[in-house]
Amino acid sequence: MEFKLHPGQLHEVGADAAIGFAYEECADESTWDARWDKATGGLAGDIASSNEFRGKRHSALLIHRPSGLPAGRLVLAGCGKQSALTRVRLKEAAGAAVRRLGAARTETLAVELPAGPDAGWAVRAIIDGVAAAADEPDAHKSAGRKERSIKTVLLLGASGAELDVQRSAAVAAGQRLARELSNEPGNLLPPKELAARTAHLAEDLPLTCEVLHEQELRDLKMGALLGVAQGSSQPPVMIVLRYRPEGKSREGTHLGLVGKAVTFDTGGISIKPSADMHYMKHDMAGGAAMIGAMLAIARLQPKIPVTAVVPSVENMPGGRAQRPGDIVTTRSGKTVEVLNTDAEGRLILADALTYATELGCTHLVDAATLTGAIVVALGWTHTGLFGNDEDWRDAVLAASREAGERMWPMPLGESYSMLLETPVADVANIGPRWGGACTAAAFLQHFAGDTPWVHLDIAGTAWHEKRPTDAPPGATGVGVSTMTELAMSL
Ligand code: BES
Ligand code: MN
Ligand code: ZN
Repeated sequence: MEFKLHPGQLHEVGADAAIGFAYEECADESTWDARWDKATGGLAGDIASSNEFRGKRHSALLIHRPSGLPAGRLVLAGCGKQSALTRVRLKEAAGAAVRRLGAARTETLAVELPAGPDAGWAVRAIIDGVAAAADEPDAHKSAGRKERSIKTVLLLGASGAELDVQRSAAVAAGQRLARELSNEPGNLLPPKELAARTAHLAEDLPLTCEVLHEQELRDLKMGALLGVAQGSSQPPVMIVLRYRPEGKSREGTHLGLVGKAVTFDTGGISIKPSADMHYMKHDMAGGAAMIGAMLAIARLQPKIPVTAVVPSVENMPGGRAQRPGDIVTTRSGKTVEVLNTDAEGRLILADALTYATELGCTHLVDAATLTGAIVVALGWTHTGLFGNDEDWRDAVLAASREAGERMWPMPLGESYSMLLETPVADVANIGPRWGGACTAAAFLQHFAGDTPWVHLDIAGTAWHEKRPTDAPPGATGVGVSTMTELAMSL
């Protein structure tokens, strides 16, 4: 899919379909009525006055053969109230419009920017929404795959936004990769396959990919990661992706992106119930997000070095599996009592965070489908954001807003760390039932040490089974956009 700026207007541009935006309770209600009335020979106004479509969020109106436009179809996407328009809302509106077109053959799609916002800002939101909505998770259907017919997206009324197009197209490619990887089932994407695909990707980009295998992980004394991996016949890996800017990089910041990549999480001996266990194929969404972000970063070439560290294992029960009560020694030297083998993400991240600081990263972000508790706390809309440094936390939050990903700050502190105390080791891998997302983050904090670090719990936002209207079901690619924005902003 190619995105192009186009100098023309909707009534002059030949396209298979056109998308326009409409606000709810527009300051001057006649504005959008009149605009779309003209394009549809009065139809849009009639529909509006009948209350069928009033520009509400998540609503989209499809009109065939709009009389005032050369396009065969016009979709009006509801944006909600103009005063409340955000990046996320515009992205969702653009996505809903594309989903409304459905299987209709659309090779060229013309999109008119909404009235009001800055063109570059709108372009980014729209590309984000259109690219996500045009995907389908049906790669393994042998017949009847949904056709992704959109080849060219013409953005009208956005002259001067070339850089925004370039940036968004790179992010869209990274998100697409992250979604593809996360949608893959456990049998087709064990750790070594994730490593192979990542290495392959790096070949064509200014990225180096290093894969640490089991023996090297032993040599590095990554006892927490190896403990999780030992129950599986699939060997673990640690994927390290490096981007280095050309010339001399600016002093200081070296961004480290750490992503949980459990290619399948059965829970291990503390096994999960079988209902819904299949969703645990996406327990590598954090790793996929960091790999996707590295793809975008390599294309956009920020001025700072970025290193991604992706520990990947399969969490299985079996005769060799780790037992509840086992004590493992992490690379940091700290010992952990594994009270629950299903709290495995934090174990592999512990060793990965230590390793990332050893590689020279000065600022860390990790992304992980870490806890069901974050879903209880925040639902499916916001990613939970934790951090040990206020400035760094604010920087990541600001990037998320620019990137159109919803995140919400969550608490850390001694009251949570205390709950992980155990008489037999330095720290336990679980706390009491309540506040599970916060104790999980408090566990990770031990391994970030004094390095500014942010933890993103994406367990609620990495997968949407029944997405309302704006994107396909399955993996969302969450994190790619914020990580790319962050790297570009530093
Ligand atoms: N991968 C899961 C968390 C998860 C749950 C991700 C739902 C996506 C959707 C994680 O490894 C896990 O099992 N966490 C446990 C922790 C508990 C044992 C302390 C959980 O949340 O139940
Ligand atoms: Mn688990
Ligand atoms: Zn897990």
